[in-house]
Amino acid sequence: MKPNDAFHKPVLLDQAVEGLISDRDGLYVDATFGGGGHAKAILDNLSPKGRLFAFDQDKDALANKLHDDRCTLIHSNFRFIRNFLRYHGVEKVHGILADLGVSSFQLDELSKGFSFDSEDLDMRMNPASPISAADLINQLSEIELLKILSEYGEVRNAKTLARAIVQARLSAPIKNTQNLIQAIEPVIMGHRTRYLAQVFQAIRIKVNDEIGALKELLTTSIDILAPRGRLVIITYHSVEDRVVKHFMKSGTFGPDISLFNPSHDWILKTINKKPIRPDADEIRRNRRSRSAKLRIAERI
Ligand SMILES: C[S@@+](CC[C@H](N)C(=O)[O-])C[C@H]1O[C@@H](n2cnc3c(N)ncnc32)[C@H](O)[C@@H]1O
Repeated sequence: MKPNDAFHKPVLLDQAVEGLISDRDGLYVDATFGGGGHAKAILDNLSPKGRLFAFDQDKDALANKLHDDRCTLIHSNFRFIRNFLRYHGVEKVHGILADLGVSSFQLDELSKGFSFDSEDLDMRMNPASPISAADLINQLSEIELLKILSEYGEVRNAKTLARAIVQARLSAPIKNTQNLIQAIEPVIMGHRTRYLAQVFQAIRIKVNDEIGALKELLTTSIDILAPRGRLVIITYHSVEDRVVKHFMKSGTFGPDISLFNPSHDWILKTINKKPIRPDADEIRRNRRSRSAKLRIAERI
């Protein structure tokens, strides 16, 4: 029973597992199974009575299934965790871990279209979902493109870029990655690779509705966490981290979006005031860990 390290090197592994497990006999959720690195470490820290329900929306991750009777691996978006847990007769769990974004395998696998070296402009973690990156790029209005590129990509000249994409698709649809790069090339500012990475990240976040799914997971966590249960989230993007930080602190998704009645005491207690970051050694061993931020909260 080995995690697939070539698929993805788990980030902030010890800190995440230590923050998650309060009861070795408990029930846990790994919302983002990937190569199974975190899942394996969770199982190693549970007793024979403990159980883990793991989720991934990418079918390719299922090949990394851990052969351990205590682990159930489910092919689904983590938006639907509650339904699947109910199906398995589970109402409450002792901890939920989510290690957001994409795995190294997904980024490197050219057929998935996440990288600017790939041909297909796809970027769907679940190929059965209806909208690909090419669909989005050809269908979104200039205003919508601007919003995504500035909010999720933090691209400095998002307005100019959104206009350039709309101009390019007027002459011919943007069908593949090469077409998109040709449209972007004349307006690139600063370091080319970094700029393209920001643009591709923004499109990926929108294609997979990553912020929408995260908000649903956070809201669901309140219903399914047992008292003293832990919520442990690793983010790689400032928008994700902001959403998690505000939710853990006050049950809102941002400074002005209130979900819960503020006159009531909020039912999560933040465990670490500042996010936990990988140290220099981990960043040297795994460059993809460099933007990671780990936040932990406990259900009161
Ligand atoms: C950063 S990787 C997780 C790596 C994993 N912790 C490990 O140790 O190998 C993120 C994984 O979560 C999956 N994922 C991302 N968003 C998801 C969602 N909304 N629902 C289910 N799986 C999701 C991706 O397909 C990917 O395999």
